[in-house]
Amino acid sequence: MNIPVLTIDGPSGAGKGTVCRAIAKKLGWHYLDSGSIYRSLAIAVLKAGVDVRDVGAVTEVAQAMSLEFDCGDELTVRLDGENITPQLASETTGNTASVVAAYPEVRAVLLQKQKDFQQPPGLVADGRDMGTVVFPEAEYKVYLTASAEERAKRRYKQLIEKGIGANLDQITSEIEARDRRDQERNIAPLAMAEDALYLDSSDLTIEQVIEKVMNLVR
Ligand code: DC
Repeated sequence: MNIPVLTIDGPSGAGKGTVCRAIAKKLGWHYLDSGSIYRSLAIAVLKAGVDVRDVGAVTEVAQAMSLEFDCGDELTVRLDGENITPQLASETTGNTASVVAAYPEVRAVLLQKQKDFQQPPGLVADGRDMGTVVFPEAEYKVYLTASAEERAKRRYKQLIEKGIGANLDQITSEIEARDRRDQERNIAPLAMAEDALYLDSSDLTIEQVIEKVMNLVR
């Protein structure tokens, strides 16, 4: 059976999460937040006290970890039975995720876990390599981006709203460093699939982006 997939790839902070969740809800499709898989691995690695530079040890953690996703209104993730949702969004988790995501061995282990999300009636998949590597046969593909400056501003606003102290310059340089790492790695780098629709959200509202993506799927 052909289960439709919509992939939305792009750098962090482009609004993929919000757009994917809204579209999955509208269509009644499942939602894969692939970044949260790499983020969960980052938490597992930090918890295990493993050196993130030790590829072999990180790969073993990836193989051994058990993840449960509950994609209700808010995503809840359990790592080996423990609710790790509150730690998922932190900068430390995101930066560590970007390091472990650069290991081919890790990506190989996590590939099937991501493919398993393709269940009826359909899937919205959010990440960096959804349209290029994990679901290259996807019917609908979008590449959603925004300038680093705009993404840093959004991230800053989110943190301040959550009551977390933040520094805009630091966030901007971290976003630029993470973009470089995600784009320059040898394995599954952040790149636009040839058959993807390119959308720059810098000057669009979330509603406008959702509308454009919905038009593609309609
Ligand atoms: O989308 P995010 O910020 O939650 O992703 C965290 C990190 O995980 C990001 O820096 C790169 C990595 N990642 C990846 O390599 N491939 C994906 N499909 C999703 C995320």
